[in-house]
Amino acid sequence: MTSQLIKKIVTGDEIRNAFLKFYSEKLHKIIPSASLIPDDPTVMLTIAGMLPFKPVFLGLKERPSKRATSSQKCIRTNDIENVGVTARHHTFFEMLGNFSFGDYFKREAIQWAWELVTNIYQLSVENIIVSVFHEDEESAKIWRDEIGIHPDRIVKLGEEDNFWSSGKTGPCGPCSELYYDFDPEKGLQNIDLEDGDRFIEFYNLVFMQYNRDLNGNLTDLKSKNIDTGMGLERMAQILQKKQNNYETDLIFPIIKKICEIANIDYFSSDDKNKISLKIIGDHTRAVIHLISDGVAASNLGRGYILRRLIRRMVRHGRLLGITNEFLPHIATVGINLMQNNYPDLKNNNDLILNEIKIEEIRFRETLERGEKLLDEIISSGQKLISGFKAFELYDTYGFPLELTVEIAEENSISVDLKGFEKEMNAQKERAKAASNNIDLTLEGSLEREIDLFNKTVFNGYKSLLSEAEIKGIFLDSTLVKEASEGQKVLIVLDQTTFYGESGGQVGDIGTIFSNDVEVLVDNVMRKKNVFLHHGTIKKGKLILDKKLRLMFAPLIELRLLQIIQLLIYYNLHLNQLLMKVLDKKVH
Ligand code: SER
Repeated sequence: MTSQLIKKIVTGDEIRNAFLKFYSEKLHKIIPSASLIPDDPTVMLTIAGMLPFKPVFLGLKERPSKRATSSQKCIRTNDIENVGVTARHHTFFEMLGNFSFGDYFKREAIQWAWELVTNIYQLSVENIIVSVFHEDEESAKIWRDEIGIHPDRIVKLGEEDNFWSSGKTGPCGPCSELYYDFDPEKGLQNIDLEDGDRFIEFYNLVFMQYNRDLNGNLTDLKSKNIDTGMGLERMAQILQKKQNNYETDLIFPIIKKICEIANIDYFSSDDKNKISLKIIGDHTRAVIHLISDGVAASNLGRGYILRRLIRRMVRHGRLLGITNEFLPHIATVGINLMQNNYPDLKNNNDLILNEIKIEEIRFRETLERGEKLLDEIISSGQKLISGFKAFELYDTYGFPLELTVEIAEENSISVDLKGFEKEMNAQKERAKAASNNIDLTLEGSLEREIDLFNKTVFNGYKSLLSEAEIKGIFLDSTLVKEASEGQKVLIVLDQTTFYGESGGQVGDIGTIFSNDVEVLVDNVMRKKNVFLHHGTIKKGKLILDKKLRLMFAPLIELRLLQIIQLLIYYNLHLNQLLMKVLDKKVH
């Protein structure tokens, strides 16, 4: 069939469907996208299409089939400063992939990739450059002799560019990448694939054949595998002939809505405004999916990523002149845009909008506090805002430097920009050190999260029964909005009648309940005046902000309960003994 007879593939949906269809016809099983919260303690978020299959590559989990294909939602925040600035960096993106688990290897992966991009997506050979790992002669030979690509179009790259792994350890291997050349007329001499204006890498074929251990040693995996990744947004940019990924149908409707709210026009905007528009457009997609997958804004781990993204959106909204709350409107457009492919977005619509709204309000309040601080500096008659103060405004109060400078200038005050930069670099170093040592243990998370809560009011032993509101629920190391039957949780309340353990003394036990929920509390810890009720949900669903009743069991009941448990353990006649115990208590 000639390419003229095939319908041109243009929209994001068409690109995604064509990829999955192509590989499903090559006997790949279509696997739905997994959650952004990975089942993998080594990473915080799903950063690649292969992540859900990592245990399969390592031989730890049975393969779902010999071949699989998916469109996986991913988030990467390691180069967030490039988002909106370059044409193709994103936090949230969709990765199309085809996978072989000990089935086909290099030959088929290369042949099919070529067939897909030239026959289905109809890219012309003149626009394609491939790279191979410099030691991988086999792949270079397949491209040259079997596909027939001119040797000048095959670029050999080193380990940094063409050896892929999902982290410091785990399955990895050499890779071969396909690049699109936007300016083929510049010729094939001295090709520099780093030239982002001319080239875009859009399809990565990883020949997953090694496992890397903690010492960096490579050992052969049991079988040779294939892991590929095609950036949907990048392919959309190519096929829709856009200047950048943000102008494609995958993101631009969100940007249009921001323009409408800010009353500006995207195409006639200056670069600075365009960057803000792109950042909000990008982050909207990340934020709605993170919340939909169960992340709640907090100061730790995934929760912190979400909070940071939302704050960046508010800040850039302000830069665009948006003063009112606007994020829920933007999020609604994002949800509508993506809900056909991700129905969870529709199901979680209210949850998403609510979380975004609360975070936006909270952050706006912080900004207002920053404005007050700035007012104080101005009215004190100082003529210079120090780098430290400008950075405090930026870091703690979310004040963009431009805004501080602008307000300072209006009041004939200058800002120590060099000092600010110094503080910023020091912060970056601290963040880098922190990201290398992300403490996801419960202890680590509590230490950081605890500051989010007001002091718990301790009502003493005035009453065995009292009412309280749920202010926080920890599940493992993360703050969540709700938890269900069977889960072990840590609960923060606004007030409590439970005594909190704090070095030595044992905390109270008891029950937290309402009509439809019951939690058995087996210990209460006190950290920085916040009481953490440790327990198991016996019935129902625990939901943030709900009012519950607490019934605490002072120590004497605790001992009785422990004795009863021992008796059960030794298989004694429980009923008779219970009767006796209760009998004694009554008389
Ligand atoms: N794992 C590779 C990547 O993320 C190919 O899917 O680029």
